[in-house]
Amino acid sequence: MLKVLRKPVICGLALALLLPAGMNSVSAANEPVSALEVKPMDERYKNSFTIGAAVEPYQLEGKDAEVLKRHYNSIVAENVMKPINIHPEEGKFNFTEADKIVKFAKENNMDLRGHNLVWHSQVPDWFFLDEEGKPMVNETDPKQREKNKKLLLKRLETHIKTIVKRYKNDVDSWDVVNEVVDDSGELRQSPWYQITGTDYIKVAFETARKYAGKDAKLYINDYNTEIEPKRTAIYNLVKDLLAQGVPIDGIGHQSHIQVGWPSIQEIEKTINMFAGLGLDNQITELDVSLYGWPPTPAYPSYDLIPQSEFERQAAYYDQLFALYEKLGDKISNVTFWGIADNHTWLNDRAEQYNNGVGKDAPFVFDANYNVKPAYWAIMD
Ligand code: XIL
Repeated sequence: MLKVLRKPVICGLALALLLPAGMNSVSAANEPVSALEVKPMDERYKNSFTIGAAVEPYQLEGKDAEVLKRHYNSIVAENVMKPINIHPEEGKFNFTEADKIVKFAKENNMDLRGHNLVWHSQVPDWFFLDEEGKPMVNETDPKQREKNKKLLLKRLETHIKTIVKRYKNDVDSWDVVNEVVDDSGELRQSPWYQITGTDYIKVAFETARKYAGKDAKLYINDYNTEIEPKRTAIYNLVKDLLAQGVPIDGIGHQSHIQVGWPSIQEIEKTINMFAGLGLDNQITELDVSLYGWPPTPAYPSYDLIPQSEFERQAAYYDQLFALYEKLGDKISNVTFWGIADNHTWLNDRAEQYNNGVGKDAPFVFDANYNVKPAYWAIMD
C-alpha cells in the first residue's frame, strides 16, 4: 500500500496518454523517455506475478535504486548470497553484503528471492576437501569415501541451516539447488554429485524446509529448461524426488534466452509440463540477448546497436510477456537478471568471444535508464 502511494502514478498516466501504446520513446517524442517517468511494470502485472531484478549492493543507491523502487516489487542478489561470497571459509560467514539487499527489500516492501544455496560454480573448495585437506573426489577407498560423504552432507546442512535461519522472515523463495542437470540431460558431474550421488539434493531441500519460514517456497533452478533432452531430464528428476517426499515447491527457469529462441510454443509447453507436476513456476534470471550462441559477432559499443535490433527484440518480448500473463496462474514471479542495459553479465560473455569488445542489450530499459521498445511492448 505504502509503495503504491509513493509512486507518482499520475505522472505515468499522463505520459501514457501522450505516448500511444506500442510507440517507442524515440519516435514519439524524438527524445528519450526516462524509466522514472513511465508506468511501473510491477503494477502492470500485479494480478499475475511479481516482477524482480537481480542486483549488486552498489545498485541500492542512486538511479538504480530509483528505478528498482518504481518498477520492481521483488529482488535477488546477483552474487552476494552465493556460497563463495557468504561462506568463504568453513564456519566463517560474511553476511554484510547480503544484509544490505535484505534491508533494501524490507524497507521497500519488496519480495526477496534467495539465490542460491547449492551450486557447482562460485562455491569455495573447502567444502570438498577431506579432514586432511585432500580433494574428496579423488578418494578411492570405499570406507573413506563413505566418511567423506557424511562430512560433506554435514557441511551442507550447516551451511543451509545458518543462512536459511538468518533470513527466515525475509526470503520468500529459495533457489535451493542450481544447475544440477547438464546439457545432455545427465546429472551434472559436480563434486556434490561425485561425492554424495543425489543425496545432496535431498538433504538440501529437507534442510531448507526445516529452517525456512513456513510460507517460503523452495525451487530447483536451471537454464535451458525449455530445451530437450534437458527439459525431460529435469522433469523426471523432480517427479522422482517428489515421489520420495522431497519438499520441492517449484521450478526456476533461469531464461537466459535470445530474441526468437526458444520459441514461444516451447516455453508454453515447458511451463505447463512442470505445472502438471503440481509445481509453481518462476522465471528467475530473464535476459533476452540480441545474439545467438556464441555471441559473435557483437556490436563493439552500445551506441552502435541499431534501432531495428531493439524493435526485433520488442516483438519477442511482446509475445513472451503475453504468454507469461496467459499462464499467470502457473507463474508467481518474473525476475530480470539486471535492472537496465548498463549492467549485464552478458557483456562479459560477449567480450569473452569478441576479443574484449562486445555489448549486449537484454532488458527493457537502456544503458541510460530510458525505456526501450521492449518496455512499450510488455506494457501494452
Ligand atoms: C552470474 C552473475 O551475473 C555474474 O556477475 C557472475 O560473474 C557469474 O554468475 N546462472 C546463475 C547466476 O544461476 O547465478 C549467474 O550469475 C548467471 C547464470
